Amino acid sequence: MPLTVDDARMLAAAVPSGVTPSEWNDLNLRFAEVHHAVARDRAAGRYGFLELEAQAAEVARIHEYVAGCVGRFDDVVVLGIGGSALGAIALRTALAPANPAPRLHVLDNVDPLPMSRLLASLDPARTLWCVVSKSGGTVETLAQYAIARRWVEQAGLPVKWHFAIVTDPKSGPLRELTARDALAAFDVPPNVGGRFSVLTPVGLLPAALAGYDVDALLAGAKAMRERCNAVALADNPAGLIASLLWRAHQRAGQGTHVLMPYSNALQAIALWFVQLWGESLGKRDADGIPTGPTPVGARGATDQHSLLQLLMDGPTDKVVAFVRVASHGADLTVPADGDVPSAAGFMKGRSLGELLGAEADATARALVSAGRPSMTITVDRADARAVGELMMCLMLATVYAGALYRVNPLDQPGVELGKRLAKEALTDTR
Ligand code: PA5
Repeated sequence: MPLTVDDARMLAAAVPSGVTPSEWNDLNLRFAEVHHAVARDRAAGRYGFLELEAQAAEVARIHEYVAGCVGRFDDVVVLGIGGSALGAIALRTALAPANPAPRLHVLDNVDPLPMSRLLASLDPARTLWCVVSKSGGTVETLAQYAIARRWVEQAGLPVKWHFAIVTDPKSGPLRELTARDALAAFDVPPNVGGRFSVLTPVGLLPAALAGYDVDALLAGAKAMRERCNAVALADNPAGLIASLLWRAHQRAGQGTHVLMPYSNALQAIALWFVQLWGESLGKRDADGIPTGPTPVGARGATDQHSLLQLLMDGPTDKVVAFVRVASHGADLTVPADGDVPSAAGFMKGRSLGELLGAEADATARALVSAGRPSMTITVDRADARAVGELMMCLMLATVYAGALYRVNPLDQPGVELGKRLAKEALTDTR
């Protein structure tokens, strides 16, 4: 079953702040312009993340490299941060099998404790390090790389066999290093930025090394990209999500956008989305006015016991986008004759999947009864194809939202400034 978006609880028929029929027509007209502008910019080569076919040679190199790694490593460690790590974390959370071989780790912070603990647990001879940085100059990643490299060298191992680099094809410090030391290297296309790079070697190399089905991931993404050729909002899932969230912000003051998967497997997609939506849209618009939604990641049913009170009775500035999976791939049933206290006797014979689904339904109904809008994105199951579909859908939604908010979704001037100031601070105190 392909991904669906149920928008009924975003409409005026369901909630007072919802979309009226005439607004729906306006939204469709506006989206037609956005769709046209995005298609034009795509043709000009602006959105490299959509050009999955252009990755074919690099994907073939990844398969070849991974085939050469089979049986050599127990652990693969990704060093990267932001867009160079969150995609791999999302893929691992969704797709890692119960007993992964090799194990995939992502060190996406310079917090010394996790790296020290991990190093203490690894066998240098059986560990592969993937250093991921589009610019090749991110200090956090370079610091971790230098520490990992020294650790490999001190074990008397050849660096060449224990490092793979993912970076810009031509420029940057990491690219220079790959040339100097003849390290395995994979290209991030120049027209793909960090948070849009999960379907390039940034996400695909770690995924392939960990044994996930990257071809299914790409097939799902392609299928979604093709669906989004549709100009009508009802047929374009990414356009629908972007338009409804943008309109909720602009017309109803609902600028806090909560992505809430009812699935542990998909929970890290919410973290990935937070970066994607926040870093792409939070900036000055074409008139120089600060704009952008505030993304929040949550997880059902757990966060019903955390955020739901705020969502129900707090400020009316939020929209919740639930993500549901039709099938969880496994299930457990509360025994019909089990030791269930009478207060929860209705649970007897019910499965945990049923309970999770019922809780998602109940939360959406509770929100609507309090006049709070929500939408529900449903995928078939948390497998590679569905994850590819969902991630492509959210990346395209972000580009559409960029056009609606009138911002450039591809840059991150604030992040760049932070990077520069951190460098200056460290240089000053030396
Ligand atoms: O999305 C982005 O562009 C950023 O979050 C970057 O991914 C992050 O700053 C890391 O940059 P780099 O990949 O150059 O190391």
